Amino acid sequence: MGDVLVTGVAGFIGAHLAAALLARGERVIGLDNFNAYYDPRLKEARIAALTAGARPGQFALHRLDLADQEGMAALFAAERGLDRVVHLGAQAGVRWSLEAPFAYTAANVTGQLAVLEGVRRSEGRIAHCVHASTSSVYGVREGAFREEDRVDRPASLYAATKAAGELMAHSYAALYGLRLTALRFFTVYGPWGRPDMAYWLFTEAMCAGRPIRLFNQGRMRRDFTYVDDAVAGILAVLDHPPAGPGQRLYNIGNSRPEELLEMVAILERLLGVAAIRRLEPMQKGDVPATWADVSAMARDFGWRPATPLEEGLGRFVAWWRGRFG
Ligand SMILES: NC(=O)c1ccc[n+]([C@@H]2O[C@H](COP(=O)([O-])OP(=O)(O)OC[C@H]3O[C@@H](n4cnc5c(N)ncnc54)[C@H](O)[C@@H]3O)[C@@H](O)[C@H]2O)c1
Repeated sequence: MGDVLVTGVAGFIGAHLAAALLARGERVIGLDNFNAYYDPRLKEARIAALTAGARPGQFALHRLDLADQEGMAALFAAERGLDRVVHLGAQAGVRWSLEAPFAYTAANVTGQLAVLEGVRRSEGRIAHCVHASTSSVYGVREGAFREEDRVDRPASLYAATKAAGELMAHSYAALYGLRLTALRFFTVYGPWGRPDMAYWLFTEAMCAGRPIRLFNQGRMRRDFTYVDDAVAGILAVLDHPPAGPGQRLYNIGNSRPEELLEMVAILERLLGVAAIRRLEPMQKGDVPATWADVSAMARDFGWRPATPLEEGLGRFVAWWRGRFG
């Protein structure tokens, strides 16, 4: 086995994936630009934990911007042991895409292209590239989302750049015979999570006695996916590359949409505090509901989500208490 490149390695899912790869003895080449979308100290702390858990020489880190065309080409040229890529680095977050749209095209379009170019120029050495997409590509929808549903009506620029990433990958697979898999993640949460996401913002506000903001009057439904389940899904896909050139698409979700108010009720029980609810209108770019049909992941890899929301939030809160008291 060769090395695995994990982009966005200092991010939430990237750090969990890298830890799992290191734990099974793989050599990991990490890439991240440690940007300040949220506190970079959290990203540094994730990397410190990863480094502490790695054998000497098992983990290498490149502090690099995905949109740095020359830097990316140099990385792919230098890291000749790479045979797999998991591309998780991206500008994430629906709401911030209304404030900083160009950050999204830089990371998710130019950056996506730099990764695809790197794979293309590897002349077949990189046998498989798994890249992150999102449930957001489905737009405003009802019922369960299936991989073959149309994804040409995004509700936010974030979603549009991710859908563009899938299309670009499709064209590269067709043009250059690449083997690619796009994974559409549904609201991933857990320890070492993301400070911009609702479960973190609510926990922080509730512990400080501040009100929590519930958009769409709290009538949102999300398919909350525990990070260990997401990582197990990535590994299952990585270990079963496509038989031939092309791009495969899979949903990675819990397949159990829950009311946001249910998440708040669970956090109240876990934290032992009553939330001060502030009901607000729907925010631009948001979708009212997500729900993953995961039968394709079950059929092709035997993968199924295993963590109920209450259990996963319990693990998040335990981690949170250990870190922030
Ligand atoms: N967490 C979720 O709920 C969720 C849901 C759907 C899709 N995703 C996707 O999964 C992937 C990982 O998400 P995450 O939750 O770990 O987010 P994250 O923000 O914690 O991780 C992304 C990492 O990418 C890095 N990055 C961003 N722009 C970069 C650039 N231009 N160059 C180099 N590094 C850059 C960031 O510094 C960060 O460490 C992303 O592609 C995201 O769009 C996540």
